[in-house]
Amino acid sequence: MQETAASGPGSIEVRDLRREEIPEAVVLIARGMRDNPLHLVAYGDDPERRVRCHARLIRGMFDVFSAQQPICATRGGTLVGVTGVAPPGACQPTATQRLRILPRVVALGPRSAGRTMTWTSAWARRDPDEPHVHLGPLAVDAHLQGQGIGSLIMREHCRRLDEADQVGYLETDKPENVHFYRRFGFEVLAEEAVIGVPNWFMRRPVRPSWS
Ligand SMILES: CC(C)(COP(=O)(O)OP(=O)(O)OC[C@H]1O[C@@H](n2cnc3c(N)ncnc32)[C@H](O)[C@@H]1OP(=O)(O)O)[C@@H](O)C(=O)NCCC(=O)NCCS
Repeated sequence: MQETAASGPGSIEVRDLRREEIPEAVVLIARGMRDNPLHLVAYGDDPERRVRCHARLIRGMFDVFSAQQPICATRGGTLVGVTGVAPPGACQPTATQRLRILPRVVALGPRSAGRTMTWTSAWARRDPDEPHVHLGPLAVDAHLQGQGIGSLIMREHCRRLDEADQVGYLETDKPENVHFYRRFGFEVLAEEAVIGVPNWFMRRPVRPSWS
């Protein structure tokens, strides 16, 4: 599907991510999220280490969660934004998936592995019982943020939710993102500190009114 913004991001195509694009998508997500507050606490002060650690984790996620239906944005054939999308019933790992992803977490080193496990367990505890489509990780490439690309990805995600009458759900660790997601009909369900970082848990009802 082709989406083009009137200003800002230029001619952007928003579509399903192809399997062969996963390595590039993983690096983009890790780079785009490099300075997120959870990453600072989980992975430490070194920005390059934060990119390496998150790339390892997200690569594991895409390898293990085979039901993922990621959406991407491209400009001139180059990936500029990506989001993971887990369909209902597929966002939390089965016992087998947990075993498969564990080595990737352990490889982060004891401190980061411990913090990552605490972080993901806190998110899992909050995961709604009701069927929902789980968004994330969402990132626009670091130098392209604030140009409307994330909004185009969200518009497509929400169009799909509305078409299928599905509930949306996500977590975020930045207050400016809460504002961003509210524009698309997400509402804050809860706020909780995770590894010392404020996190917001947001739900989008079936077919809310949104801009
Ligand atoms: C959050 C994110 C996906 C939004 O995509 P985007 O293309 O930058 O956003 P858009 O240009 O479509 O929309 C701009 C809005 O996004 C929000 N925003 C969040 N982070 C932002 C950033 N780094 N730069 C600019 N806007 C940002 C603001 O609310 C902004 O609204 P405003 O212009 O009224 O201030 C992107 O900024 C990003 O990748 N951030 C870092 C990683 C991250 O936090 N991902 C989400 C994890 S839940």
